[in-house]
Amino acid sequence: MAAYAKAKLFYISVMFWLILGVECYSGWSNHVLTIKTGGSVTIPCHYDEKNPPQKKYWYSEYDQSKIYTNTIEENLSVIDHPDQSLFTATMRNLQNKHTGGYSCVVETEGQPTVTYELFLKVQSSPDVSVVSSSVSGHEGGNVSVQCFYSSGYQNSLKQWCRYKDQSCYTAGRTDTSQNSSVQISDDGRSSFSVLMTGLRLSDCGWFFCSAGEAMNPVYLTVTEAEPVTVHLTVTEAEPGSVTTDQH
Ligand SMILES: *[C@@H]1O[C@H](CO)[C@@H](O)[C@H](O)[C@H]1NC(C)=O
Ligand SMILES: *[C@@H]1O[C@H](CO)[C@@H](O)[C@H](O)[C@H]1NC(C)=O
Ligand SMILES: *[C@@H]1O[C@H](CO)[C@@H](O)[C@H](O)[C@H]1NC(C)=O
Repeated sequence: MAAYAKAKLFYISVMFWLILGVECYSGWSNHVLTIKTGGSVTIPCHYDEKNPPQKKYWYSEYDQSKIYTNTIEENLSVIDHPDQSLFTATMRNLQNKHTGGYSCVVETEGQPTVTYELFLKVQSSPDVSVVSSSVSGHEGGNVSVQCFYSSGYQNSLKQWCRYKDQSCYTAGRTDTSQNSSVQISDDGRSSFSVLMTGLRLSDCGWFFCSAGEAMNPVYLTVTEAEPVTVHLTVTEAEPGSVTTDQH
């Protein structure tokens, strides 16, 4: 009887926790990361740069493991990047059994806080995928990313979002609230491309492209503009004439 009551209490508290959980992360708990069988993925976990947590870990519902930063295992690495106020979890050799819920957790004064939750789906042909999960461009230049989606997502909302502040650009939206430095064009069939123009160093960081609730992360590196060397040659023979060579 006591055991039954205990079990009942346990289920009630789990349900309560689930309801609370859904309320706290509404909009983000329905993010589904789709990865090809055998593939790998890196997920960024941002934390407060002004008040960095004492402990950070990657929680897996699959085996209920907590992997603290900085751990490197054969199929999983959890690495802290204090210079970017984030840690990353890289999962490799993903198999169907790894499908499930995962979270980024930070601990301050022994108090754990879930900062990000996702559902990972390992699929033979992923709902949303990218050719490369890392792109780079020069300051002032352009970069383009192509995101592929399966036929079931043709009519879903297509977005390009920044992880850090969770701000998004939406395909097909022409209102002025969207910045013209990001253009999204959707072929309506199997992919959309994101063009970021006039890159700035501050654009560097983690983004994701999504179709409906399915998403895939991409890391953008922005390198400093290449210096243009200008050689000035003043020719003595013809006073006043100046030739310039640009490289
Ligand atoms: C890593 O993944 C491979 C492929 O699934 C598996 O054979 C291997 O046992 C895994 N390693 C560990 C330490 O789990
Ligand atoms: C960047 O894209 C814009 C808009 O498509 C284009 O006008 C510009 O020439 C591109 N710049 C470079 C360096 O490719
Ligand atoms: C676009 O965004 C950048 C910063 O992200 C900002 O400096 C710029 O003013 C924005 N442009 C428009 C038209 O909103």
